[in-house]
Amino acid sequence: MPKFDDQFITELKARSDIVDTISQYVSLKRAGSRLNGLCPFHSEKTGSFTVFPDTSSYYCFGCGAGGDVITFIMNTEHLSYVDAVALLAQRCHLPLPEDEKGDEQTRKRARQIEMNKLAARRFFANLRDEKQPQGLQYFLGRGLSMSTITRFGLGYAAESFTDLRDHLRAAGFKDEEAFEAGLLIRSQKNGKYYDKFRNRVMFPVIDVRGNVVAFSGRVLDDSKPKYMNSPETLLYKKSQTVFGLNFAKANTDGTIILVEGNLDVVSLHQAGFDGAVAPLGTAFTKEQARMLAKYAAKVVVAFDMDKAGIKATDKAIDYLEELGVSVRILQMQGAKDPDEFIKQYGKERFAMLISGSKNPTQYALEKLSKEHDLGEVAGRTEYVRQAVRLLAQISSDIERELFCGTLAKQTDISKETIRMEVERARKRYVRQTKEQIFQKEASGFKTQDRVNPERAQNLRAAKAEEGLIALLAHSPDKVAWLTEQLPPQEFVTKFNRRVYEFFIQKIGEGVSPENVLSVHFEGAEVAKIMQILNTVTVGEDVIKQMGDYIRTLKEEQEKKIGGQSPEQIKNMLKSKRS
Ligand code: UTP
Ligand code: MN
Repeated sequence: MPKFDDQFITELKARSDIVDTISQYVSLKRAGSRLNGLCPFHSEKTGSFTVFPDTSSYYCFGCGAGGDVITFIMNTEHLSYVDAVALLAQRCHLPLPEDEKGDEQTRKRARQIEMNKLAARRFFANLRDEKQPQGLQYFLGRGLSMSTITRFGLGYAAESFTDLRDHLRAAGFKDEEAFEAGLLIRSQKNGKYYDKFRNRVMFPVIDVRGNVVAFSGRVLDDSKPKYMNSPETLLYKKSQTVFGLNFAKANTDGTIILVEGNLDVVSLHQAGFDGAVAPLGTAFTKEQARMLAKYAAKVVVAFDMDKAGIKATDKAIDYLEELGVSVRILQMQGAKDPDEFIKQYGKERFAMLISGSKNPTQYALEKLSKEHDLGEVAGRTEYVRQAVRLLAQISSDIERELFCGTLAKQTDISKETIRMEVERARKRYVRQTKEQIFQKEASGFKTQDRVNPERAQNLRAAKAEEGLIALLAHSPDKVAWLTEQLPPQEFVTKFNRRVYEFFIQKIGEGVSPENVLSVHFEGAEVAKIMQILNTVTVGEDVIKQMGDYIRTLKEEQEKKIGGQSPEQIKNMLKSKRS
């Protein structure tokens, strides 16, 4: 089963420093020999995510995610094991072993990138073809300049069922491949393949590495569907792609403007707003928020002000604030979206909207005040009640104080009274949040035992086993002594036994077991092992500590055997021997 051998993986991990690698995704702070940060695998406000440079591993005390540099890349980049290894190898310039060069998925990805590049060029050429001027006319009609069109590589998909298909065929690509890349569709009737995008202006979707991963095509008139996007492929995951981020990431002022439409992005860039990006048709996702957080300290949300846009705004605020990004909300009047606004009022006015954009509390307060009639006592009371709850969630004392003032003025209630209410609500809020976190973590640990299902029933034994594994990892020189004292057969839970055997074997081969875990265990198993290695405290006297665990384990063994019928004991012994 293992695709790469231990030597190769050991070398790869030696070259791919875990702190370096993870720092590209998570901002880490050093705390003694470890580093902490916000976990990229679950939402949290306190940093439970921990990196252990000593063992080249990470573990999240909140959600239980854990592993090595390879599992980290698999989970953050959503890659298979082989592809994650390939990516790391490429980053540290380590050649892949011969027989893995032709890995199926990697080759497919490369060919899809190639096909997309060819398609983008074809669409671009069509756009400038005098015999089919409608695409260029459309873009020029919407106010885009030739240099903007070129910069974004915008194009036109011909009014034809075979234009791109035949072009790709001529370049040596099979229809099936182009179909898998999302460029062709397959006819139900005759099984033949045809162009997916026809008579549409085309926006190539480019990832942060600069590869065209998908397309978004718009009709030239009012027909439906207005936009057609590529289906998900090996290259393109909707929820993880942000249109325009390839340009916006180089934007020097660290501010991203999040808008709804492709054309808004292009128009804003043309007007000099280099930070514009859009989520591409889907609702804004947590993964997209995470991508933005990598490149921006501040995000200005400028979604449309309709019902869907307001909902998306609330989500964006939630997700981005969770990641420590400072969020502002831009509100427009007199235009539906940024593209329209700039056309009507110019870029200077749009710049003013950006500088006047509101922070999330201001935004929420305003939304709230619009929902109540402040002229009536009842409306005002309800508004204050809800506003107090909102202000209680602000963690900055200064900001809370300022908003108390605003609220007092708005409602004609004394600032003292409001402040008292807010502080009381704040205490309650802090207590509740702490309880919630505690409960979440407690239930998180319970659900983790898919990997070792026998653990719950044999808790004392399993803990002793885990202690022994951790101590052995810490002191591999004790392997001979330990194996003699406690051969693997004596382990109670199967999973821990397998781990113990693995450690003994690898230490015997002179390989560091932690380094090659991901070669021999699955993701969830690796995480569990990391938990074992990182949550057991290693004391001064290892032999004594090992002795204690061995004793506990033997006691548990006896208890177990004592409570069983003679037949059960016989069966158990039999199964152990085999
Ligand atoms: P809008 O309908 O707000 O369009 O869709 P727009 O961007 O203002 O388009 P123009 O100005 O008329 O050209 C916003 C975004 O939602 C996605 C697209 O990504 C679009 O840019 N969308 C919209 C779709 O994916 N499919 C659709 O049919 C419509
Ligand atoms: Mn628009």
